[in-house]
Amino acid sequence: MQKSPHTQLLKLCQKYNKQTVSIRRHLHQYPELSFQEYQTTAYIRQQCKKLGLHLLPLNMETGVLAELHGAKPGPTIAVRTDIDALPIIEQTGLPFKSRNHGCMHACGHDMHMAVVLGAAKVLSTLREQISGSVRFIFQPGEESPPGGARPMIANGAIENVSMIIGLHVDPHLAVGKISLRDGVTMASVMDFDLIIHGQGGHAARPHTAVDAIATAAEVIDSIQKVVSREIDPITPAAITFGKIAGGVARNVIADNVILTGTARALSKQATRKLPVLIKRTAAGICKARGARLTMNRIADYPVLSNTPRVNRLLARTFTSLFGKRNIPQTEQVLGGEDFSCYLENIPGAMFRLGVMNKKIKADKPWHSPYFIADEKALLVGVSLVAATVIDFFEFSST
Ligand code: NI
Repeated sequence: MQKSPHTQLLKLCQKYNKQTVSIRRHLHQYPELSFQEYQTTAYIRQQCKKLGLHLLPLNMETGVLAELHGAKPGPTIAVRTDIDALPIIEQTGLPFKSRNHGCMHACGHDMHMAVVLGAAKVLSTLREQISGSVRFIFQPGEESPPGGARPMIANGAIENVSMIIGLHVDPHLAVGKISLRDGVTMASVMDFDLIIHGQGGHAARPHTAVDAIATAAEVIDSIQKVVSREIDPITPAAITFGKIAGGVARNVIADNVILTGTARALSKQATRKLPVLIKRTAAGICKARGARLTMNRIADYPVLSNTPRVNRLLARTFTSLFGKRNIPQTEQVLGGEDFSCYLENIPGAMFRLGVMNKKIKADKPWHSPYFIADEKALLVGVSLVAATVIDFFEFSST
């Protein structure tokens, strides 16, 4: 084996870095909300065409599927980025801050896109070294359930793909670092609405009505016991109602209440049990009060479980690029990420890319109006993604 197999690749990443930064700044200035990423989609398509990538058909309003064909035939590896932003008014004061008022790349998806486009440029330059294809998945709607991953998959995004990699920036991890975790890293997500159908009436004549608000109060209260009494306490889970709506006036008994909730878990068993237990509890209470229940499931993502051998490939490549550095383990959280939908079907992993740098105030949490990512992470991300793709082909051919 050569001493530093990626010298040429690193040089290319450095050479293109200025361009990667300007791509990132452009995207940062024009953020768009989930499933409304029209300008972003047009921009990505244009960038992909410039690189000579093949645009694959996609029956969706936003998002891009592109492919790089190597010099020789072989397997396909996919690289995924999300492309949407959040309804947040940016307060960073950066010279390239959002020009779409009320919308901000506060989760770093602009960084993800720049990394993937940067890697695509490097890889198209190194096409001769590729025996197979690289599929680039620019996925809309990560922030907004039911998410863009499933429709992308339905459009063939991971057809014939043998491995997928993805990334997420991490403002709690120092720039220059990455983190990895084998197995379950993020939670399953079940977003749901409970609609309690009572019967309206006069506030002074409750016995002639079915009070949907009083019933809803009991439902919320009882569901608090689902996690504490019916889920194995060894495995984390959470149920939260973030919104409640119902009623029209002080002296009118409400006929309907809608409870908007989300249920999270880190184990497959709890993931299976939560919807059943929520429905059983809510329906039982509604029945006891003479009300009726409808449960709508808005989104279902599985737990995000990274494939260990893909992590090993990432770690090996990272070490070959930057020397032996400590690679911390990504912390488990009950947050969700629809990258899990790809991993449900094919092996793969999502790595965390450190973007923290206290000197430039790049240490605010995701989704903060003050969220800043250190752009020095772009070089790390681009070279890791590009080199991992090259290494994937090398290992799959030997
Ligand atoms: Ni995100």
